[in-house]
Amino acid sequence: MAMIKPVLWRTIERKLKGFNGSKAPLIAGHKLLYKCNLECKMCPFWRRKDEELLSVEDEVRMMEALKKGGVSFLGFEGGEPLLRNDIQDILAESHKRFHTSIVTNGWLLKTKLKSIENYVDYMFVSIDGIGELHDKMRGISGSFNKAMEGIRAAKGHISIALSSTITEENYFQAKDLVLMANKLGVPINFQIAYNYSTAEKESPEMGKLKQAIEVLLGMKEKGYWIVNSKEYFQAVTNSWFNGIEWKCKPWLTMNIDPLGNLVMPCYVLNEYKGKSKVWDIDIVKVWNNYSWAEFESCNKCALSCYLEPSLFTWKNPTMIKERIIDGLIDYIHSKTTAV
Ligand SMILES: C[S@@+](CC[C@H](N)C(=O)[O-])C[C@H]1O[C@@H](n2cnc3c(N)ncnc32)[C@H](O)[C@@H]1O
Ligand code: SF4
Ligand code: SF4
Repeated sequence: MAMIKPVLWRTIERKLKGFNGSKAPLIAGHKLLYKCNLECKMCPFWRRKDEELLSVEDEVRMMEALKKGGVSFLGFEGGEPLLRNDIQDILAESHKRFHTSIVTNGWLLKTKLKSIENYVDYMFVSIDGIGELHDKMRGISGSFNKAMEGIRAAKGHISIALSSTITEENYFQAKDLVLMANKLGVPINFQIAYNYSTAEKESPEMGKLKQAIEVLLGMKEKGYWIVNSKEYFQAVTNSWFNGIEWKCKPWLTMNIDPLGNLVMPCYVLNEYKGKSKVWDIDIVKVWNNYSWAEFESCNKCALSCYLEPSLFTWKNPTMIKERIIDGLIDYIHSKTTAV
């Protein structure tokens, strides 16, 4: 039980703090750098130049500001976060303060595993297709094998899930990806590719997306280990095919670019044009002076990092079970079965 305490406590602590009913971010996503060792077609980030990177001291400064602002979950991504030579120090600092997660393409996972395994609460490894298809979408051959090697090495040491981005090129492999995850003994999360202005337009055509969602919902109902809630798939279907909007709450997820700047309202609409260092502002004040309401009916993207928290409600027992209770059981299970 000791393992779950920090997660539970941080969530409860935030509730207790209250903020008098005002808005506050719960999750923060931080791009540690734009640089990457892969060149995925749908991704705009590796195409950007890094100006400079934050030192570990600045990362800590950022974390202290986030803590004060109400953040409980900190997720690191990029670019490729494992390319940072100081990644273990950054994760160690984060782990002292937050439930810490990381999203990686897995290429360096086996190499860096020992140095980071004690500081990561949850890791997503991106796998977009089986074998050659993954390599084609990710632009570098060998990336599938490297990621699989990393996953096999990390399993049992870190709670791990595959993360798949559904595109025009891989929608028909949705079922095979779930079966592969199943065989590996790890869960899998899906999100739908968004057409960023500076990347290749890979978002799936509507009919193909519908087909993939139906397959995934069916598998989810049969009990396959899919991280997305069924409400996630239903929200996309309702919004994009039936004209029933979901209410976006981008204020739950805070975005920070590699310079430590805040990106608002979300990185999809702003494409990482950040301003104001997080440690120079009063987060609670900024949060409550921003006009979030105009984005409630946006429904432009289906990135799970925004859509899932937006759908969460304490009034929906299925979601509480799926997102919190089952998540904690998986978490305890993965820790207690670690070898
Ligand atoms: C930007 S990457 C950064 C972390 C790491 N390099 C990786 O690939 O996992 C984070 C996630 O964003 C996803 N992604 C990339 N381009 C996307 C797009 N156009 N729409 C939605 N997700 C995208 C990737 O597949 C990956 O799972
Ligand atoms: S999705 Fe990840 S691995 Fe692919 S180019 Fe973008 S940052 Fe790199
Ligand atoms: S739906 Fe719109 S406001 Fe919400 S996260 Fe996506 S792009 Fe941003």
